[in-house]
Amino acid sequence: MGRSPTLLTVRVLGIETSCDETAAAVVAETGVAERPWMLASNVVASQGAIHREWGGVVPELASRQHVRDICGVVEAALECASLTLDAIDGVAVTQGPGLVGSLLVGVAFAKSLAFARGIPIIPTHHLAGHIESLTLAHGELPRPAVILVVSGGHTSLYLVSEPGVYQLIGRTRDDAAGEAYDKVAKLLGLPYPGGPVVDRLAQQGNDRAIDFPVTRLTHADRNAPANTAAGILPPDIARRTDFSFSGLKTAVLHHVRKQSPDGSPLPDDHVADICASFQRVVVTALLDRTFEAARWLNARSVGLAGGVSANTRLRADAEARGRKLYLPVFVPPLSLSTDNAAMIAAAGLRRFRAGHVGTLDFNAEASLSLHNADG
Ligand code: KG4
Ligand code: ZN
Repeated sequence: MGRSPTLLTVRVLGIETSCDETAAAVVAETGVAERPWMLASNVVASQGAIHREWGGVVPELASRQHVRDICGVVEAALECASLTLDAIDGVAVTQGPGLVGSLLVGVAFAKSLAFARGIPIIPTHHLAGHIESLTLAHGELPRPAVILVVSGGHTSLYLVSEPGVYQLIGRTRDDAAGEAYDKVAKLLGLPYPGGPVVDRLAQQGNDRAIDFPVTRLTHADRNAPANTAAGILPPDIARRTDFSFSGLKTAVLHHVRKQSPDGSPLPDDHVADICASFQRVVVTALLDRTFEAARWLNARSVGLAGGVSANTRLRADAEARGRKLYLPVFVPPLSLSTDNAAMIAAAGLRRFRAGHVGTLDFNAEASLSLHNADG
């Protein structure tokens, strides 16, 4: 059986299987309010090589691989932390959003483990995990904090005024930024996942070589989820904190077709120029909105999280903007930017301390929302 959950500091095993990484990690409380958690281990088994062959994630293959990997990954996380299951006080697992077949593997595993050990289960939101990766790495951020979660599935802006309360103030109306990176990479004939490859090639290109269009959202969002920026930002500003990347992706497609009507590969230096010019527009759009929201909300810090926050230019430009405005900018280390279970354990600890322990009847939810929720 696990230790008593009334212990002064608890240790949580995190499990994350929302997409194509099977991940487990152990995070422990420190007992120090400003830096509440410490990482004991962080293990990720990536399925990148399996999906690369197909140019993107194949859901059925992802679920099957999670089943193969989950036991070994959890064992490795315990071993790296030099702990046995006796030392674990709770299990936090990604409940959603994500691929439902993938989520189900982690959820079923975590429920079984929690039931067998008689310890609490903590269903956790994937984006709360990305947000809390910042607290895990840097301690509590100065609040209010404006946090951009930018990944393959999401591009959302959150206001955090209270620990563990995430208010949605902007989101993409179409593609996520990471999805745009991956699709642009694909149409340039680059391997999956495209983000890191475009990032690398962009460093050799001229970011002004091609004038790709900057999306301006002039109309209100008819499909806006309830309670987004309404009431938090003035309506005209709220409209400007939404994102859109599908037009840019189409512009890159038209450019490539024009340059190579017969579909033959473009010269390497031209590919690098396309990557750099595309990336300049994406990074500018992300940071303009983030810093505009931060200004309106008198934010005391800005955070970037999620897979795209690994991007070299996004990090450098965000830090440069922050320095100019005397506004601290926080970014997780690379190991906590892309999907991992340490962030799930951290967000789970936050929920555990807020009294949100789950019962064994919760289910995986592919489109679980975090809108104005308490995580
Ligand atoms: O957070 P994440 O691991 O998974 C999701 O929750 O979606 O993010 C994966 C996304 C992919 O689209 C990948 O191409 C992108 O993050 N990515 C990057 C970089 N590293 C990963 N995008 C741009 N530059 C990078 N260096
Ligand atoms: Zn993610």
